[in-house]
Amino acid sequence: MTRRAAQRHDMHWIFGYGSLIWRPDFPYTSSRKAAVRGWRRRFWQASPDHRGVPAAPGRVVTLVADAAATCWGVAFQAEAAHFEAIVAMLDEREKNGYDAHAVTLEFDDGSAAEALTYIAGPDNPSFAGPAPLGAMAAQIARAHGPSGSNREYLARLAATLLELGIEDDEVASLHAAVEAGDGMIRHTAAR
Ligand code: SIN
Repeated sequence: MTRRAAQRHDMHWIFGYGSLIWRPDFPYTSSRKAAVRGWRRRFWQASPDHRGVPAAPGRVVTLVADAAATCWGVAFQAEAAHFEAIVAMLDEREKNGYDAHAVTLEFDDGSAAEALTYIAGPDNPSFAGPAPLGAMAAQIARAHGPSGSNREYLARLAATLLELGIEDDEVASLHAAVEAGDGMIRHTAAR
């Protein structure tokens, strides 16, 4: 579906799978857990603008196409009257490589809806792609940008997914690796 079709006036669900799930920062009337099939959440997008700087970018999540995967996140229902302004705000917030895509949401009661979500595809200049877990954890542990530290982004995502009962192996492993690195630094400093 084209972006233009995704912005039609009767569509007012917005799907978040990263920072949007804990900091939507737009007016919404309700929110609920939802899934998109065929997409996997991955820390494969460099962040030189929010959780890092151009010389030392952080890593944030995007959705990567994977026919075997389902990504759970949070869908926010916004009033149609606010939708255009919300999209304009999100276009600005997600401007580093993310494009608005129309996706089909599935809810846990079996119902479905169309939604807009922001995906940073493999052709955008900040696409970082996969890396060994330790390298990604080290990058996240170091990076800091105008929106705060990259480790805070990871910790908030891990905590919110846990609260929602959403399992994500990569998020959990990265969080454990960054925490373990912190523990080693504290241990070394105390000696
Ligand atoms: C999202 O949260 O849905 C997009 C990625 C991000 O801003 O973390």
